[in-house]
Amino acid sequence: MEFHPLYYKLKEKIDREIRAMETEDTPLRKILHYAVDDGGKRIRPVLLLFFAKDDEKAMDFALALEMIHNYSLIHDDLPCMDDDDYRRGKASVHKQFGEAMAVLSGDALLNKAYELIFRNILQTKGENKDKVRAGELISRCAGIDGMIHGQELDINENNHPIEMIYYKTCNLFIGACGAGAILQGASEEEIKDALDFGKYYGYLFQLTDDLEDFEDDQKAGKKTFVTMKGKESTTEMIALFQEKAMEIAEKEDTGFLKNLIQITVDRG
Ligand code: IPE
Ligand code: IPE
Ligand code: MG
Ligand code: MG
Ligand code: MG
Repeated sequence: MEFHPLYYKLKEKIDREIRAMETEDTPLRKILHYAVDDGGKRIRPVLLLFFAKDDEKAMDFALALEMIHNYSLIHDDLPCMDDDDYRRGKASVHKQFGEAMAVLSGDALLNKAYELIFRNILQTKGENKDKVRAGELISRCAGIDGMIHGQELDINENNHPIEMIYYKTCNLFIGACGAGAILQGASEEEIKDALDFGKYYGYLFQLTDDLEDFEDDQKAGKKTFVTMKGKESTTEMIALFQEKAMEIAEKEDTGFLKNLIQITVDRG
């Protein structure tokens, strides 16, 4: 199955903006280029732009979210976390450049994200309440009550894999879809649908990723939903979240969200 044409259109715009931001004049900037430039599917920023109806004013927020996502992956691969040597078909950042530079490049990306958001708000003439609200949502979803809490659960206890997935993975999708809808000036009801879509899509995204990573995760002794509950329960859970996400996807007529759900599920 092919991605919806809108996915390619939005991804191309994001990739172009990311390339335009890059310079390679210091070792750290070189690493950022290595880590962010190619390979990523850009699903979170594409969703943000989709829910923002591709409005130009949403681009900085989409880029910020992709920066946060990339920082989370660099840190996620570190030996003290998942200890993964490969990411996107090449050596992970700490394998290629060392742990200290991996920590620094993650920190740099996180700060760059908020620099982009603040600068965008600063340049707004007139009303900017929606932008502040979108920025607040993104920071909350990425932080100690969101993705970081999920990583904490993943590492420390992880006895409730569904709760862990909600925090570590759903939250960035909630931030993406919710911020997009807010920036577009959607109604509160539409914003709620966007937030819910992010949540359900996030679950099925991580559960299919876990299915894909099953052999490696089992060998490494990682506790994921699949290694704990088995493949059959995982497939059942995916079907459940797929149905929930589809209910919301049915409400829009481009077929973009339905296509994204289907592509994600088919991957697992
Ligand atoms: C990887 O996310 C981390 C998970 C939540 C499983 P993606 O699969 O979106 O990573 P990239 O950006 O496309 O490489
Ligand atoms: C990634 O989960 C979630 C975050 C980075 C927040 P995983 O650890 O399962 O992702 P992969 O498999 O390394 O991409
Ligand atoms: Mg992990
Ligand atoms: Mg990992
Ligand atoms: Mg995984």
